[in-house]
Amino acid sequence: MNILIIGSGGREHALAWKMAQSHHCDNLFIAPGNPGTASIGTNVAIQVNDFVGLKNCVLENAIDMIVVGPEDPLVNGIYDYFLKDEDTQHVNVIGPSAEAAQLEGSKAFSKHFMQRHDIPTASYAEFTHANYDQGVEYIKNHTLPIVLKADGLAAGKGVIIAFTHEEALTSFEEMIQNKQFGEASSKVVIEQFLEGIEVSVFALTDGFNYQIIGHAKDYKRIGEGDTGLNTGGMGCVSPVPFMDKVFMQKVEERIIKPTIKGIQSENLVYKGFVFFGLMNCGGEPYVIEYNCRLGDPETEVILPRLQTDLVSLLAAADNGTLEDVNIEYHNASFATVMAVSGGYPGDYQKGYTIHGLTEAATIPGALVFQAGTTFKESEIVTNGGRVLTTTAQGEQLQEAVENAQKALSKICFEGMYFRKDIGYEFKP
Ligand code: AMP
Ligand code: GLY
Repeated sequence: MNILIIGSGGREHALAWKMAQSHHCDNLFIAPGNPGTASIGTNVAIQVNDFVGLKNCVLENAIDMIVVGPEDPLVNGIYDYFLKDEDTQHVNVIGPSAEAAQLEGSKAFSKHFMQRHDIPTASYAEFTHANYDQGVEYIKNHTLPIVLKADGLAAGKGVIIAFTHEEALTSFEEMIQNKQFGEASSKVVIEQFLEGIEVSVFALTDGFNYQIIGHAKDYKRIGEGDTGLNTGGMGCVSPVPFMDKVFMQKVEERIIKPTIKGIQSENLVYKGFVFFGLMNCGGEPYVIEYNCRLGDPETEVILPRLQTDLVSLLAAADNGTLEDVNIEYHNASFATVMAVSGGYPGDYQKGYTIHGLTEAATIPGALVFQAGTTFKESEIVTNGGRVLTTTAQGEQLQEAVENAQKALSKICFEGMYFRKDIGYEFKP
C-alpha cells in the first residue's frame, strides 16, 4: 500500500514511524513533512490545504491511503474533496467529512451535539453580535472562573479562562466586537469552569464502530507545576494512573458510545480519529472538547505504546471490519518530553542548529520525534516553537520520564527549554 501522511509536526513524524513498521506499507510520503519524516519516507513539498497539489501527488504516486494529521484540512473538507472526485474516490482518506469535522471546527456545533446526545459537558450559552448585550448580562451573573471560547478554529488560542468578571467582559468584547480571532470569534461559547484533571482519550471510528487506541495526559502549560501560558503541549504520559477500569468504563458508556451513536444517528460521515478532551472531575468524566484528529504530543506516546499494526487498523476502518480488530498495548509506561524554542509560546527565534540528534537516538528504547525543524544546508535547525520531543518507556511512569529526559539531555540548541516535571503529580 502507498500511504500519504499530511502534516509536518511531531504527530506526523510519530505516524510515519509507526506506519513504516507495517508490512502493508510499501511507499510512504509526507506532505510537507520535516527532516524527521524525511529519514523515514519521502517528503513532498505540498502544503496541507493545497488540495489540488495533494491530488496530483496522490495520482502520481498511486496513493491508496491518506492520513490527515492536523484539523485545518479536515475542517476545510479534504475528505469530501477526495470523495467527490472520480479519480480519487477509491483512496482511503482517514478523517471525517467537513460536516462531521464541525465537532472540532465549531464549539457551538459540538456543544449542541453533546446536548442532543446527553453527553456530560460543562453548561454553556452562546452569543454573537446580535445578542451581545445578553452575553454581557450572562457574564455578570456567572460564577467565577468563567470560560470563553471562540466558536471556530483559532490555532489553540481561542479559549480564555477569566478569573474576574472584568477580564471576562474585556475578552468578550475583544472576541465579538473587535473580531480578535476574525470570523472564528464572531460567535462565542461561554461555559462553566470544570475543576479536575485533564486526560485525552483517542478512538478510531468508521462512523458505526470504534476502537479505543490509547489515552494520555498532556501537560499544556509552559511552566513547571502547570504554571504560565498555555502551549500546544509540553509533554505527555501514557497510561495515566487514574485511568483505571472503573473510570474507563464511565468514559466508554457515558461518552464514547453516545458519541459514536450520535454520529451514526445524525448520518455524519466520519472515518477517522476522535480525540476526546476530557476532565476527570472527582472521578466523573466530562467532555471539554472534541477534536477530529490525533493530538500532538499525545500521538508521540500513544503510538509507541500501541502494539497493533496501525495500517491494518486504518484499513479496517475503511472496509467495515473495525469491530474485529484486536487492540494490544505494550505493558510499559511511556512518556514524551517536548523541547521548545526560548520564548515560546511568545516570540522566539528560529534557525538555530540542533546538536545531538544521533546521540539521543542511541539511548536504548528512546525515540526522537521532530516537530519545528528544517534543513539548512547539511544541518537540521529549529523552525518553530515546539521543536522536537523525545519519547521513552519504563516499567514505571517515572522511569519513562527519566529515560525521555536522558535522551533529551543529549540534544541541545540555543535557547532550548523543556519541562523537567512531566508526570509530577503521579510521583510515588
Ligand atoms: P480547548 O481549546 O477547548 O481544548 O481548551 C483549551 C484548554 O482550556 C483545555 O485544554 C482546558 O485546559 C481549558 N478548558 C477549556 N474548557 C474548560 C472548562 N470548561 N473548564 C476548565 N478548563 C477548560
Ligand atoms: N495536545 C493537544 C492537541 O493536540 O490539541
